[in-house]
Amino acid sequence: MGTVGTAELVAAVANAGAHGMFAGVMVPPPALRHVIDRIGWLTGGPFGINFLVPLIDPECVEIAAHGAGLVEFFYGDPDPALVARVHGADGLASWQVGSEAEASRAVAAGCDVIVVQGIEAGGRLRGTAPLLPLLERVLRAVAGQVPVVAAGGIATAHGVRGVLDAGAAAARVGTRFIAAQESGAHPAYVEAVVRAGALDTVITDKFSVMWPPGPSPARVLRSCVAAAERLAEDYAGAIPAGGGMLPLPRFAAPAPGRQATGTIEAMAMYAGVSAGEVRRVEPARAIVSELTSPRSSSSAG
Ligand SMILES: Cc1cc2nc3c(=O)[nH]c(=O)nc-3n(C[C@H](O)[C@H](O)[C@H](O)COP(=O)(O)O)c2cc1C
Repeated sequence: MGTVGTAELVAAVANAGAHGMFAGVMVPPPALRHVIDRIGWLTGGPFGINFLVPLIDPECVEIAAHGAGLVEFFYGDPDPALVARVHGADGLASWQVGSEAEASRAVAAGCDVIVVQGIEAGGRLRGTAPLLPLLERVLRAVAGQVPVVAAGGIATAHGVRGVLDAGAAAARVGTRFIAAQESGAHPAYVEAVVRAGALDTVITDKFSVMWPPGPSPARVLRSCVAAAERLAEDYAGAIPAGGGMLPLPRFAAPAPGRQATGTIEAMAMYAGVSAGEVRRVEPARAIVSELTSPRSSSSAG
């Protein structure tokens, strides 16, 4: 989850009994090694490293496959060579997909797991279909060959149980962890997500500056699109990079982390429709415990 997913968050999720994921996007090889060591030091639990294919550094794939149990790819056509690279280092390979055709290609490419993402999800969106009907089509296409994880709009124990009942092997939850205590999101981003309702997100391809050319829709808070449109300057602010601060153009793809400066509300605040279920900041352990509880607080209410 980009700047949101700190080593501390990944480790806290794994320590709580779930599977942590770290986004290796734009992380140089030495920094990735350091993060993997740090996560491994903080937890003995399972975790993986995720790469956005258009921004991938092949050296980082090797490092991830050696250091983490699972390496996942997103936003590129399933590639047998990348999967083989992971297997060559004794890792498991996953691909997050947005359609049943892409799911079949991921299985054919040799993936051990696939994640199916519905358009309810926060962040970059790969497909055009809502999660439940897509999950059903993907399960049919994959026909039990690999476990299928469901992602998009899941933020309660009801939601988790719903996708498990529908045949998923696991649920992926992103947006809910923006408001984890261990999250690296800027406090103004966290507050905006906590305040947002289910109808306060929008799919847009505007936040595509500093992203490779081509259509790249993402679900973000509606408020950040409006704030970026209102910006008089060409830059929204700056983010830490390479020991200094990197100016962040208007509509740039990176989300605001804790150390971002400038007009934070105009930066890419990725969030899913599940933002409506994010009501407070709490430790990752409490979030995992609620998501996996037999009775969620929402069912009590
Ligand atoms: C802030 C944020 C950053 C994300 N970054 C990535 C990423 O780097 N790689 C990736 O595969 N998915 C990324 N995603 C998408 C998640 O993998 C997942 O599809 C999504 O969070 C699930 O929906 P939810 O946000 O409603 O829980 C991101 C999502 C969010 C909210």
